[in-house]
Amino acid sequence: MTPIKHRTQTMMRSLTLALCLASVGGAAMAQGGFGGRYPDQGGEAVYKAICQGCHMPDGKGAVGAGMYPPLAGDAKLGAKTYPAFVVIRGQKAMPEFGTGLEDAQVADVVNYIRTHFGNGFTDTVTAEEVKSMRPARAPTGTVRAPG
Ligand code: HEC
Repeated sequence: MTPIKHRTQTMMRSLTLALCLASVGGAAMAQGGFGGRYPDQGGEAVYKAICQGCHMPDGKGAVGAGMYPPLAGDAKLGAKTYPAFVVIRGQKAMPEFGTGLEDAQVADVVNYIRTHFGNGFTDTVTAEEVKSMRPARAPTGTVRAPG
């Protein structure tokens, strides 16, 4: 009996440790603000890591289990703030990536889609502009009433 009991205790200890580490990680995320979850840097790398799964490698989108609009020849990308907002906050069936991407990563991927797939919008969005477009607090997480 003793070995089993010992194993249970060891398991409990590892579980407690894991929970502690998880909450430390959560606190660090909350303090550090946004970003850092996706390591890829540069518009093309971010696009390949995240966006192409839905919008396809050629930006033409897909219709299947869902409807993923094409970014190729998409006139709506003309206003640079629009795609930045969609990436930061998400829109309908598209999840938000503002929590996982840093300002520069958002700017880079937006500039990338606006200058590829046949799109020729040469004005760029900057990391500073992305920062100013973020919601006042993270769109996920528990919000507690003050006091
Ligand atoms: C899980 C699938 C998914 C992923 C991943 C995804 N999108 Fe989307 N995206 C969508 C869907 C679905 C829509 C349509 C939303 C709607 O109905 O308004 C959309 C819409 C958009 C739009 C607006 C297009 C328009 O004409 O209105 C832009 C811009 C966009 N996505 C860019 C991106 C970028 C950049 C990434 C990568 C950082 C990305 N998306 C990742 C599913 C996805």
